[in-house]
Amino acid sequence: MKGAAGGAVHVPVMLEEVLEALGARDGGMFLDCTFGGGGHTRGILDANPNSFVVALDRDQRALERGAQWEQRYGGRLRLVHSPFSGLVAASEGLKFDGILADLGMSTDQLVEGRGFSFADQGPLDMRMDESQGETAAEFVNTAAERDIFLALAEGGVGKNARAIARTLVFHRPFGSAQELADAVKGSQLGKRTASKVHPATVVFQALRMRVNNELQEIEGLMEGATKVSKRGTKLAVITFHSIEDQAVANRMRRWESAGSYPANWRGNRAEKRIGRVVARKAITATDEEVSRNPASRSARLRVFQFDDELLK
Ligand SMILES: C[S@@+](CC[C@H](N)C(=O)[O-])C[C@H]1O[C@@H](n2cnc3c(N)ncnc32)[C@H](O)[C@@H]1O
Repeated sequence: MKGAAGGAVHVPVMLEEVLEALGARDGGMFLDCTFGGGGHTRGILDANPNSFVVALDRDQRALERGAQWEQRYGGRLRLVHSPFSGLVAASEGLKFDGILADLGMSTDQLVEGRGFSFADQGPLDMRMDESQGETAAEFVNTAAERDIFLALAEGGVGKNARAIARTLVFHRPFGSAQELADAVKGSQLGKRTASKVHPATVVFQALRMRVNNELQEIEGLMEGATKVSKRGTKLAVITFHSIEDQAVANRMRRWESAGSYPANWRGNRAEKRIGRVVARKAITATDEEVSRNPASRSARLRVFQFDDELLK
């Protein structure tokens, strides 16, 4: 499935809110850590003709789709093949006015038959960067049951993680995503699930997180963001499930509160406050956007502003 003129089909989530959060209309130098279909990047570039964007993606296919935009925006857009944990090297010494990360998968990745969707009959791959690392099939078809259990537990499967790990080991090897989804659905647990959501939803999320090292990537993103920021830089992060959201929110709270130690604090006193959380509660999509783009339903936008000279 392709978008117009071979372009992307992904619809950017909370575009207006993101432009507002980043101060994109004022112009400046921006880093888009998750180029995807390029919707947010184009929004930033169109918001001010004097803006520049460095845009990263670990998925080579996203960059190939985006090459046309690099040409169209001339020197104002630079695309880089990099995971966002490598953002410091990819930025080549630049400091940014605004940094955006829109986590997870793009619609393009979902419809490309790469194992991200339950209905995929192609290989169970799930790697965003197809040039390296273990595929979901390699992991789930060969790993010890305990490692599968740990991946499922870390990825949010909860109290059913052990039983699902056992089911997967019993039914493997899996060739396609659909086979795996059917195994979960056909298990006792799957049959018991009354919800309209496919019982394999969280299993897929957990495997994708494991294959793409997503939690470690978020740590790298947050750490890297402090190194390419200056006074006033705004960091906007969109997440799509509670594990990601909590990782981002906790880090932002720590950045804000570090330095104000309670009297009985026994931890590290070297941490300094480096800015402020811009909105206490996560920003969510309006009802109008959710009805237009259901993918925005679970999106949470968190914004932090670096405002301390201690950022070095
Ligand atoms: C939700 S989409 C971004 C959509 C984009 N904002 C738009 O408007 O089209 C997420 C993109 O981030 C990329 N991505 C996910 N994790 C990444 C990581 N750790 N490093 C770099 N890119 C990543 C994915 O390959 C995907 O293309």
